[in-house]
Amino acid sequence: MGQLFSWFSGTRPELQSKDLEGVAQYIASGKCKNIFIMAGAGISRAAGIPDFRSPGGLYETLRKSDVELPRPLDIFTLSYFKKNPKPFYRVMSELYGGTYRPTLTHSFIRLLEERRLLNTCWTQNVDDLERLAGVSSWRLVQAHGSLDSQHCTTCHAKLDDRAMKQAVVSGEVPLCAKPGCKGFVKPDVVMFGEALPSKFWLNIPFMWRADLLIIVGTSLAVPPFSQLADRVPVNCPRVVINTEPVSLWAVGARESDVKVVGDCDETVRRLAQLMGGDWEERLDALWQGTEDKVFRYKDHVTL
Ligand code: OAD
Repeated sequence: MGQLFSWFSGTRPELQSKDLEGVAQYIASGKCKNIFIMAGAGISRAAGIPDFRSPGGLYETLRKSDVELPRPLDIFTLSYFKKNPKPFYRVMSELYGGTYRPTLTHSFIRLLEERRLLNTCWTQNVDDLERLAGVSSWRLVQAHGSLDSQHCTTCHAKLDDRAMKQAVVSGEVPLCAKPGCKGFVKPDVVMFGEALPSKFWLNIPFMWRADLLIIVGTSLAVPPFSQLADRVPVNCPRVVINTEPVSLWAVGARESDVKVVGDCDETVRRLAQLMGGDWEERLDALWQGTEDKVFRYKDHVTL
């Protein structure tokens, strides 16, 4: 079905060059009206949150740590969580118990929205930094959920936010407060073995509108998220920004793909510079504006 939409989605000008200059020229031409983003853990690394698969990322750290897990991936596997949620909360505490603020890349996504160019930002990240940077909820699809709400895995009752924030800071497993239940509570992040939110599936058909897809800071290792890249029209340029070359094998590489190997913050700054006008100035202003948007779980709990 996605492919069908792809073929009937009208004409798009070819990039004048398959590099950032070509992308900037295309955006500035006014013919690129709907930009879609696919983001991953790499965009939050500068905020101090490790990614998963890089050397020094979460999975390697888990492999070397004393956290008891059959396989690092089990930390995000529902069946394992239901048996033993302790490693998950210990890791949550290490990952998100600190202080973090949106990165320049998050502010760039906000800038695209401000310039009425952002159609949808798809993210695999659960840290909510896109929202903290000012991206509207209705432009955001948090494909793997977020740490913003939580439910009991036994009776599905909602747990109060304060109790979850306390759990993230302390690393203690929160239990359901409903009388007689005491089930393990889990944040509404999507684990392996769980369905993705309906917002994910409902938004896929709109990808035929894409004039440009920017894939940033993701290894594209996890379907169905990775397969979104295949849902944009065949004549829609796709730009992949990553510190290492990312293979689009899972979704099929295209002649028109642009690959930028480098740091995402440096790359979006370069793109803003190439856009000219006040793009870079506004990018910096938006990012400066996130200074007071620093999020600390510790501010929300009394230990
Ligand atoms: P990965 O850790 O798999 O990939 C992050 C990518 O970002 C890597 O390819 C890095 O090279 C790149 N990267 C790191 N720092 C960067 C930077 N400063 N600039 C540009 N690129 C950078 O993370 P995801 O692709 O987000 O799922 O992982 C996808 C899913 O796998 C996660 O949502 C999680 C995990 O298992 C679940 O838990 C369900």
